[in-house]
Amino acid sequence: MSDFILVMDEGTTSTRAIVYDRDFREVALAQEEVALGYPQDGWVEQDGEEIWTRTLSVCRAVIAKAGGAARIAAIGITNQRETTLVWDRKTGKPLAPAIIWQDRRTAAFCDGLKEKGYEADVQAETGLLLDPYFSGTKINWVLSNVPGARERAEAGDLAFGTIDSFLLWRLTGGKVHATDVTNASRTLLYRLGLGGEGGWSPAMAAMMGVPQSLLPEVKPSAADFGMAEAALFGREIPVASILGDQQSALVGQGCLKPGQAKITFGTGAFLVANTGAARPVSENRLLGTVGYELPGAAAMALEGSIFNAGTVIKWLRDDLGLIQRADESAAAAASLKDNGGVYMVPAFTGLGAPHWNAEARGLIAGLTRAATAAHLVRAGLESVAYQTHDLLAAFAGDGAPIAELRVDGGMVGNDWLMQFLADICALPVLRPDYREMTALGAAAAAAMQIGWLSAADWAAREVPGKRFEPRMDTAARESLLKGWQAALHRALT
Ligand code: G3P
Repeated sequence: MSDFILVMDEGTTSTRAIVYDRDFREVALAQEEVALGYPQDGWVEQDGEEIWTRTLSVCRAVIAKAGGAARIAAIGITNQRETTLVWDRKTGKPLAPAIIWQDRRTAAFCDGLKEKGYEADVQAETGLLLDPYFSGTKINWVLSNVPGARERAEAGDLAFGTIDSFLLWRLTGGKVHATDVTNASRTLLYRLGLGGEGGWSPAMAAMMGVPQSLLPEVKPSAADFGMAEAALFGREIPVASILGDQQSALVGQGCLKPGQAKITFGTGAFLVANTGAARPVSENRLLGTVGYELPGAAAMALEGSIFNAGTVIKWLRDDLGLIQRADESAAAAASLKDNGGVYMVPAFTGLGAPHWNAEARGLIAGLTRAATAAHLVRAGLESVAYQTHDLLAAFAGDGAPIAELRVDGGMVGNDWLMQFLADICALPVLRPDYREMTALGAAAAAAMQIGWLSAADWAAREVPGKRFEPRMDTAARESLLKGWQAALHRALT
């Protein structure tokens, strides 16, 4: 009996597969790290083949644990967004390493377009800004830098895809070249809109120098995406959902009503608020994006993107060696009575919303001889809360105030950080007991597509968890925010 759903959750630092039963209980999980390369300042790459082979390997592992492919009714895919691959349609081989969303190599190209005064038009058409974050300028880079690529693209021999699209191509043996609306809305090439209103934008493709023949077909987030080949898992399995990971977490958290919002603390941190059917317009440099298109439910969203969150802890652990394990960071922070005036601005790859400064680089401020390793660890954790605070101010400025923060992702197990986040943001923080909201969203979307679930039932579902209430006094909070703003100002100038 096919009573399970398999989700592929291809994130920036690891790829995982999770099998869920019909009640959305986790049956099996497997995870493998995918190596990140930093070949030059501001460049971040991964090997497309490694993404594929590791994803296949974790899928096979969970299918075996779950009792075989006959149990899997459908596949859902959720993925790191914007990351760009261009491949040969005949061989399926990528022409270049995947250019990761954090990669800043197209900053000068973006600046050139800004200098021509194009940013207002770009924002009006796509909801996005002229920043290297998005796929459009990354595709241009591949076509301009891989010998012969532009001619081959113009001849229709190449395909572009975000990671979902590449996985789908490989799963279907090259039969399906498609993506979903949430991923398409992160490319800088998509006219922002729901249903028939949205679509690839010829004007944006021309501005980015991207031939339209490269682009995948765009489908709703729950749709018939074709069949994974029998040769891969022993039998054909339909692919029933695709969502970019942040929108998938929005669905996973059950934020299907306008005003509901979640923030996922993964490699980066992404605050996404459901804005209903209305096309969001930001005056505060937030992003307008598609939230989801599901059977009987579709919404737009406003997003604030922080580029470095989990990476800060990884850096403290792997590069500085100040902690041995990520979960030691909470005890290190709690061992201090205060931050000792030490602040960290983790602009390793520039700063995202609301600054959008590709050239900013990180700094540690306020060091005295009394500063210890624990101060640096605490400053790293605190930086995540301060950046979230700044995003919330931008949301409020855009007339989309957020009343409570639903959180998920790898960092939320850190109780010290959750309490500090509630204190600095002066908002209740809701942490669900089940943390894999990204994978859960894609599972729910796939379940809707195969008729196991309605969007209304999903929205009404109880999400058990822990609530952190703000309890810091205003003067202490304001003094910390002042210290952060001063450090931030130095990173930006
Ligand atoms: O926009 C980038 C985002 O989708 C990456 O998410 O979870 O890999 O940090 P994550």
